[in-house]
Amino acid sequence: MQEYHEFLKKVLIPENTLAQRVAELGAEISNDYLDKNPLLICILRGGIIFLSDLIRHITVPLSVDFMAVSSYGVGKRASSGQVRITLDLKTSVRDRHVLLVEDIVDSGHTISEVLDFISTRHPKSLYVCTLLDKTERREVEVPIRYRGFTISNEFVFGYGLDIDEYYRNLSFIGVVDLEKFIPENDLNDF
Ligand code: PRP
Repeated sequence: MQEYHEFLKKVLIPENTLAQRVAELGAEISNDYLDKNPLLICILRGGIIFLSDLIRHITVPLSVDFMAVSSYGVGKRASSGQVRITLDLKTSVRDRHVLLVEDIVDSGHTISEVLDFISTRHPKSLYVCTLLDKTERREVEVPIRYRGFTISNEFVFGYGLDIDEYYRNLSFIGVVDLEKFIPENDLNDF
């Protein structure tokens, strides 16, 4: 794989800005969920870094669980608009205050379908917290209660977001220069 600096167009959100905003969100959530023992549900895999930083800024008792979703058939989930649950929760959401934690809401299909799915299991409350909100790309309306940053329609990576499953471990959000990024398959051809 390439080193990220070979195709990094710019750092969109540096580490200290992320840390500050995540701490603010944690404080806001702590305040809103006093005595509510929330269940935070992370949708794998992009949300893992955000979740792990966020929960360390939440001061009320909470639990966490994970879900994974995938598209039906071929093509991008964003264009298909249909998702299937590939990893279900271990925890019952019935009568729990549930907060869905995502790295990014793009078309909105993923979170919308996960919201529908969880709603059928009768949580006491159900809200969405996303680090990034790419509003320009929205195809379905999604109620977002907590939002880290609204971003424009650029290809971003790092801090949980991948490019071909790599670079999730970077501590900032960067923008890809698509002219300089070489997909792994092309690298193998050399
Ligand atoms: C990303 C992101 C959201 C979804 C948002 O997941 O984590 O789940 O896309 O897109 P949407 O609003 O258009 O549905 P991705 O499919 O990249 O999987 P990952 O979390 O494993 O990286």
